Amino acid sequence: MRMVDLIEKKRDGKELTKEEIIFIVEGFTDGSIPDYQMSALAMAIYFQGMTPEETAYLTMAMVESGDQIDLSAIEGVKVDKHSTGGVGDTTTLVLAPLVAAVGVPVAKMSGRGLGHTGGTIDKLEAVTGFHVEIDNDEFNRLVNTNKVAVVGQSGNLTPADKKLYGLRDVTGSVSSIPLIASSIMSKKIASGADAIVLDVKTGAGAFMKTLDDAKELASTMVKIGNQVGRKTMAVISDMSQPLGFAIGNALEVKEAIDTLKGEGPEDLRELCLVLGSQMVYLAGEAASLEEARTKLEEVIANGKALETFKTFLAAQGGDASVVDQPERLPTAQFTIEVPAKEDGYVAEIIADDIGTAAMILGAGRATKESEIDLAVGLILHKKVGDQVKQGESLVTIHSNTQDVDQVIERIYQSYGFSKGPVEALPLVYCEIKE
Ligand code: URA
Ligand code: CA
Repeated sequence: MRMVDLIEKKRDGKELTKEEIIFIVEGFTDGSIPDYQMSALAMAIYFQGMTPEETAYLTMAMVESGDQIDLSAIEGVKVDKHSTGGVGDTTTLVLAPLVAAVGVPVAKMSGRGLGHTGGTIDKLEAVTGFHVEIDNDEFNRLVNTNKVAVVGQSGNLTPADKKLYGLRDVTGSVSSIPLIASSIMSKKIASGADAIVLDVKTGAGAFMKTLDDAKELASTMVKIGNQVGRKTMAVISDMSQPLGFAIGNALEVKEAIDTLKGEGPEDLRELCLVLGSQMVYLAGEAASLEEARTKLEEVIANGKALETFKTFLAAQGGDASVVDQPERLPTAQFTIEVPAKEDGYVAEIIADDIGTAAMILGAGRATKESEIDLAVGLILHKKVGDQVKQGESLVTIHSNTQDVDQVIERIYQSYGFSKGPVEALPLVYCEIKE
């Protein structure tokens, strides 16, 4: 087989076979297929697309390019959740203890964040003592005992994806649905999930700007999962504004605690209940989505979800007293209000810009080497549809410096206003099951 023939085949709109796709991914991973040929193929895929079969073969070839996590020592159906990316997305912090509290095993492998705010691990490290350096046996034991544990990424997962993403990023082929879908699904499958719930975001701040694109991406990922034997479904949710109020590591931990207590922001609570119900249902812990939701509402109301969060933090060395005394979390030195410049209604809050504002403060990493400040971030007071009066605070900045001009400028950039009333958008648009 010659790579040049396969590039030409795809360029001309023909379908690649399983053997051809394996040849490509293996050759690219071991370096026998050079970057320039792989870039050309990625561009051909960008224009010609891929069939569902090709996309599934590509996904599995990338899964097989590196290590795969074996979660078979953990009892029950391991369900993972993936979000295509939002700002201040506190759902993982809430969902992990929440679904664990109804008996669904959460064996979470997480990374550190790049951009916006930290990843799940960074956020949890806002809790003094919490660590993710646990070995395999300890991880399995914790999940079997407490139903939830989070471990840092280890091993060599999907190296082909890592390398291909690096090329796509600098050659203009990131935004191809089959390439995005296979990239995301290869990582979830290699991490060992039996079932996968996808939260595909749409709106101004999301990767997929339109509902149609979001549906197509969701459907492509769901087909891949189901084709390779992992029960998969997707929820399409709104990202025309950040979820909840908090953006920033310790601030999001506090927001997650509030939500587990039943006191969090309405949109965050609702999305967690929607995604959580799907997870509980896929895990076989409820006969219907309604029953799953009832169980989740019960563990919020009776305090079991909060108890599970405490147990989980303590089991990994964390100071669980922050749950009852969130003031023990890292706190920034200064709080600075950002006032509305005129009367009106909030029409949009562009998540990317507000995320950048949080990153400038130090809540996220501009480069992999950047240090993050766990205490800093933003609390939004006004969301889409809210009426605002001139001078009212839109956002509170939590900062360790008083020099926040750039941050304020970004916040104003992210907010769009309308003179007349604005209808709040739906939080969840639809479910995709095939
Ligand atoms: N996220 C991924 O992991 N891969 C993509 O290709 C795009 C977004
Ligand atoms: Ca949030």
